[in-house]
Amino acid sequence: MSYDLKLRVWRGDSSGGELDDYVVDAEEGEVILDVLHRLQATQAGDLAIRWNCKAGKCGSCSAEINGRPRLMCMTRLSDFEPDETITITPMRTFPVIRDLVTDVSFNYEKAREVPAFAPAEPDADGKRRMMQEDVERGQEFRKCIECFLCQDVCHVVRDHEENKPAYAGPRFFLRYAELDMHPLDTNDRRNLAQEAAGLGMCNITKCCTEVCPEGIKITDNAIIPMKERVVDRKYDPVVWLGNKIFRR
Ligand code: SF4
Ligand code: F3S
Ligand code: FES
Repeated sequence: MSYDLKLRVWRGDSSGGELDDYVVDAEEGEVILDVLHRLQATQAGDLAIRWNCKAGKCGSCSAEINGRPRLMCMTRLSDFEPDETITITPMRTFPVIRDLVTDVSFNYEKAREVPAFAPAEPDADGKRRMMQEDVERGQEFRKCIECFLCQDVCHVVRDHEENKPAYAGPRFFLRYAELDMHPLDTNDRRNLAQEAAGLGMCNITKCCTEVCPEGIKITDNAIIPMKERVVDRKYDPVVWLGNKIFRR
């Protein structure tokens, strides 16, 4: 069944923009990216959108849908009332290039600051061994598709450009935790995470976990354990509070 869908889409560039209203044909079962492609094909040929896989795996199509950070290819129209106006805006934390496309290079700069995996020397027989439990713990962290929705939603940088130089954000706390928990990694990342990556600025609001399309428990399984590891050396009251209030 097809119907008229009301869309409000942010159009503009780094110098400014506005929300434009459109009515687009929509089919039952479609996702937001489908109707944006139809909008491009029929009414707004110059609409800029970044996407690639249309399967929730490349992390390219991140935007804000009715103010909530989401993947456009994984957001079904059935999540909304048919007569509802759906508003689509670019991720707010990163500079706009054009329309729904933002410049996410902040994240690549932060990625470069994380020292690479530095494996220990192999055992005498030339093999490296680790417990199955350690292998499995890291699997969750490696599900990250780098959509940066967690980075977008985190209030520490969302409306605070001034915090960006000192704060790596949840995606990279995940990376620090993955490497710090790896039994064969020889780097000690705790001080680095706390001092250089700004782990102490996270006050465990859990918004990052709520928007992660891969369902990674960023706060419970990466951030809080990292804070606990750091707290051996430096007192952080948020660890205590997080354990009391949020941990399940
Ligand atoms: Fe996206 Fe989740 Fe990775 Fe953050 S942790 S970048 S929300 S997949
Ligand atoms: Fe930000 Fe997640 Fe911490 S949203 S404040 S990194 S729990
Ligand atoms: Fe790849 Fe949406 S297009 S995640």
